[in-house]
Amino acid sequence: MVKATPGGIDRRGFLNLAAMSLAGSAAPPVLDPSAGQLQPTPRQTEGPFYPDKMPPDTDNDLLIINNRLASAAGAVTHLSGRVFDMRGEPARNAVVEIWQCDNNGRYLHTGDENPGTRDVNFQGFGRSMTGPTGDYYFRTIKPVPYPGRTPHIHLIVRLGGKRMLTTQLYIKDFPQNARDFLYRSLRAPQLVTADFKPITGSTQSELTARFDIVLGPAPEDPEEDRMRDLDRPQIPGRR
Ligand SMILES: [Fe+2]
Repeated sequence: MVKATPGGIDRRGFLNLAAMSLAGSAAPPVLDPSAGQLQPTPRQTEGPFYPDKMPPDTDNDLLIINNRLASAAGAVTHLSGRVFDMRGEPARNAVVEIWQCDNNGRYLHTGDENPGTRDVNFQGFGRSMTGPTGDYYFRTIKPVPYPGRTPHIHLIVRLGGKRMLTTQLYIKDFPQNARDFLYRSLRAPQLVTADFKPITGSTQSELTARFDIVLGPAPEDPEEDRMRDLDRPQIPGRR
């Protein structure tokens, strides 16, 4: 269930709105939709770790599961942005889904053989629905590397029940990007790269990241090869 949306009201509505304005003031949108025809955000493989069993909570706060008191480990990050079509019109009621490994490099997936201990307080997956201005928002952690991959956040955007985009978001200037086979396959990596910036005055060393998304005109082809196995952790001695 999509519980918390920009402007929506729920248990953490105030937190979300406050965080959104904080994130917004710290980093202006990266896209200027008035600049004319926009480039679509590049596709990237889904990988094998889209949750095979959903967490008990799928809202846009990945740090806290339901009403638990414990919070996930990691560098708290306010990830926000806008979803546009190629003419620069905001995509409203688009469902943005993210999933990523926890601070120990573990995904919420029974097939993840990564050796770290899974952080049971990390939700691992979340959804946010865009409002009239195309805005989405998540509270999550700054992604960390796992064997064989530079840090990234997986992302799917659905519109009207159709999957419009599958991609991965990277950390700007992260040294390992240059050695990552999926990052290196990008012709325009800047379109899926965000600056994770410290929020001035944050006593918790929280970060903000802006990622604006441009949807192409057609939904993705469900038959297309998503190269699932290529995103597996590459553990020495194992295939
Ligand atoms: Fe991944």
